[in-house]
Amino acid sequence: MTLIDVQDLDVHYGDLQVLWDVSLQVREDDSVVSIVGPNGAGKTTLLKTLSGIVEPTAGRVEVLGQDVTAVPSDAIVEHGFVHVSEERNLFGDLSVEKNLLMGSFTTRDDFEENREMVFDMFPVLRDRRDKKARTLSGGEQQMLAIGRGLMAEPKVLAFDEPSNALAPQLAQQVFETIEEISDDVTVVLIEQHVDRALKLADRGYLLENGRIQTEGTGEELLNSDAIKEGYLRG
Ligand SMILES: Nc1ncnc2c1ncn2[C@@H]1O[C@H](COP(=O)(O)OP(=O)(O)OP(=O)(O)O)[C@@H](O)[C@H]1O
Ligand SMILES: [Mg+2]
Repeated sequence: MTLIDVQDLDVHYGDLQVLWDVSLQVREDDSVVSIVGPNGAGKTTLLKTLSGIVEPTAGRVEVLGQDVTAVPSDAIVEHGFVHVSEERNLFGDLSVEKNLLMGSFTTRDDFEENREMVFDMFPVLRDRRDKKARTLSGGEQQMLAIGRGLMAEPKVLAFDEPSNALAPQLAQQVFETIEEISDDVTVVLIEQHVDRALKLADRGYLLENGRIQTEGTGEELLNSDAIKEGYLRG
């Protein structure tokens, strides 16, 4: 089954076109699909379009069998697509536990069970469950954002540069967590750490200047000239 099917997508911000004719697929048997590319390529815009936050000017986006061009983003969450945004969008004045509760608005009956699953994955969140989210470190906030995404029991969990602004050791931990999550949930991963993102990926896409330049298996992309010459030097 195709979980995400994007065909010939164009996106504009006002007069500025930022995505051209983008097509991509995420299938149920993919564990990780990575989207890589330089700053300003349109990666975040693509994810926002999948989430129903940005409306495309042309093309079709189907998420879990639903045409989402006319669907509000909370309905997309209900269908099983959850996006952990770059800004993390935590509720800073609410406790860790309340933030997890906010993530479970479509799955309230399973709240306690899912909360324990998240606390088992990130024990530090259990220790800090009553602390306000804004008092957590950057790494802990990223764990909370991931945990909140999991509370919605997604079929597809998308991450926008989850290792951004984290110390190397924490970034490593985030990659390990994503790999673990991908055993159960299909992951869409946007990353500037091209090497790591493609090593994890079953399939990947290189997005440059708003267009898909290359696609293939993670290994094919790692061995492609476009990636080797543009992204893996030094
Ligand atoms: N809300 C907006 N209004 C107008 N232009 C925008 C808006 N958001 C992004 N852009 C522009 O659209 C283009 C694509 O931006 P986008 O954030 O999608 O790229 P990105 O690949 O995620 O980059 P980065 O790696 O820096 O996060 C850029 O030229 C950016 O300046
Ligand atoms: Mg971005």
